[in-house]
Amino acid sequence: MEIILSAKDIYKTYKTASGEVHALNGVSVDFEKGLFYAVIGRSGSGKSTLLHILSGLDRPTSGTVTVAGTDLSAYSDEKMAIFRRRHMGFVFQQFNLLDEYNVLTNITMPLKLDGRRADPRFLQEVTEQLGLAGKLKKYPSELSGGEQQRCAIARSVLAKPHLIFADEPTGNLDKRVGEETMGLLRDTGRRYGQTLIVVTHDLDIARKADQVIHIEDGKIV
Ligand SMILES: Nc1ncnc2c1ncn2[C@@H]1O[C@H](COP(=O)(O)OP(=O)(O)O)[C@@H](O)[C@H]1O
Ligand SMILES: [Mg+2]
Repeated sequence: MEIILSAKDIYKTYKTASGEVHALNGVSVDFEKGLFYAVIGRSGSGKSTLLHILSGLDRPTSGTVTVAGTDLSAYSDEKMAIFRRRHMGFVFQQFNLLDEYNVLTNITMPLKLDGRRADPRFLQEVTEQLGLAGKLKKYPSELSGGEQQRCAIARSVLAKPHLIFADEPTGNLDKRVGEETMGLLRDTGRRYGQTLIVVTHDLDIARKADQVIHIEDGKIV
């Protein structure tokens, strides 16, 4: 067993006009390479905050996050952005596709930003597996919600990151399409040995995870 990601004693306090919000209150958790984790908990319990901190999109008020042995606090924001591009993939509820670019350009964008090219065989394999092979020239507005989310998955997988983070990835899809999409995300993750961390409201999806992390009031319960 190999720990790819580890959080130790994470606290996160947001300062707002109306006072401090203690979003995370001492979270420690280890993630094993290649497993699928579901993060569940009520709205406002701190799930998104945890995901942002685990992925270096935001920094904890105190505590440490270690990815493959490297303490993320050692990275400047700029270095962190590069590290994220190389080692992490993201799938969000809003898909976050670029409307002015076609599917092919969208899904290869993280690689391009990193000065890399998609391996054509891998590109073909992933797009076929996700049912996108015939849609590479289409624009996001010409796709269904499920297809757009599959593009976001293809984009997250293609750069072959070690870690994929997804925040309510099926939140904008109907139940059946959501479960199918999650199945694809899980299968691609398994195939490529990626660790998958998914925030979800959907207990049917959580049931399919290797491990469930339940958060309440900024703590794991
Ligand atoms: N940028 C922010 N500024 C101030 N408060 C925030 C911010 N982001 C989240 N919060 C607060 O932190 C708590 C946890 O939020 P969040 O992590 O988004 O929960 P969840 O994803 O479980 O719904 C909530 O009380 C929320 O209002
Ligand atoms: Mg959230």
